[in-house]
Amino acid sequence: MKTLDWNTLFGERARRIQASTIRELLKLTQRPGVLSFAGGLPAPELFPKEEAAAKAAEILRQKGEVALQYGPTEGYFPLRAWVAEWLGVSPEEVLITTGSQQALDLLGKVFLDEGSPVLLEAPSYMGAIQAFRAYGPRFLTVPAGEEGPDLKALEEALNQEYPRFLYLIPSFQNPSGGLMPLEARRRLLEMAMERGLVVVEDDAYRELYFGESRLPSLFELAREAGYPGVIYLSSFSKVLAPGLRVAFVVARPEVILKFTQAKQGVDLHTPVLNQILVHELVKEGFPERLDRIRTTYKAKAQAMLEALDREMPKEVAYTRPKGGMFVWMTLPEGLSAEALFRQALEENVAFVPGGPFFANGGGENTLRLSYATMDRERIQEGIRRLGKAVKGLLATA
Ligand SMILES: Cc1ncc(COP(=O)(O)O)c(C=O)c1O
Repeated sequence: MKTLDWNTLFGERARRIQASTIRELLKLTQRPGVLSFAGGLPAPELFPKEEAAAKAAEILRQKGEVALQYGPTEGYFPLRAWVAEWLGVSPEEVLITTGSQQALDLLGKVFLDEGSPVLLEAPSYMGAIQAFRAYGPRFLTVPAGEEGPDLKALEEALNQEYPRFLYLIPSFQNPSGGLMPLEARRRLLEMAMERGLVVVEDDAYRELYFGESRLPSLFELAREAGYPGVIYLSSFSKVLAPGLRVAFVVARPEVILKFTQAKQGVDLHTPVLNQILVHELVKEGFPERLDRIRTTYKAKAQAMLEALDREMPKEVAYTRPKGGMFVWMTLPEGLSAEALFRQALEENVAFVPGGPFFANGGGENTLRLSYATMDRERIQEGIRRLGKAVKGLLATA
């Protein structure tokens, strides 16, 4: 019998899908005793376990023939209508997706050909880079910091090339935690409108603000200005439960139609039971739930910042997030976050080295810390251990 060499049988696309070294590294963080700031996971104590259990049972008993049946690709209509009302759009402009991660893949499928230019922030969400990469685009990047993308660099990039789309996370960016100020949002939108540029706004963290209120999204500003070119992505993962895999895209009906056709080939539709459950969980008391989530993350962020202020040597810089789940740290130039990762593991503490968040390389001296999953004591103990590892690395540098 002829033996099969699978690697020669896979297609071109599979060759672009590589196991990331970072995911291999992160497996080490699962060891017992490791305090991990690595995962981007929401706080499990915020999951509506009892409520979901009761509602799921009720849904299955009362609407089992709908919940267990195939459903429309666009999504369970009452949930689409709820999202539409929440965002002030019409239900025809909403597509329910299986996580925002699916929306990122659909974006690649619908907009990217091999070699297509696509513009991202550096750093940007690793999962987006991975989803787009499968379609073989050419990544263009602009530096981004605590106030979002560098608009000068963005303008220069746009003057040179017209990308298929610009992908941005303007509020509490993953991984940098950055927040684009209102003026920057307006300026960016002007640039997009002048050029007819498609902007993809990934707003997974929007509701997790620590201040008084949230900023208007690019999508809202674009609607006010009559510009249809912003595609808006958001998700129930960070405000309800990521395991339900329910998220949504909002865009002009022409775009929604193309995404719907593309989604049909992927999973026909997002699980109906999960969509009904999400609808039941958000239709009452959602603002109060968001308040609880914000209070919880704000306290965790504060605990981390207090500990960082106490434990980190002055050579190390870190952001002070105004919302979201992440602190972004920069080591002195020339130091490697991967080397720190190994040293930190010896102290039983973990984080994500920043390199993989840069689509075109760089950022070797950066790292992401998530404060979302641990309690105050463990955050403080973890940062104490990390401080020790950082001082150790600096001493040997
Ligand atoms: C910026 C960003 N977009 C999308 C996702 C994917 O979220 P979902 O759980 O909705 O697939 C994440 C998850 O961490 C994220 O940080």
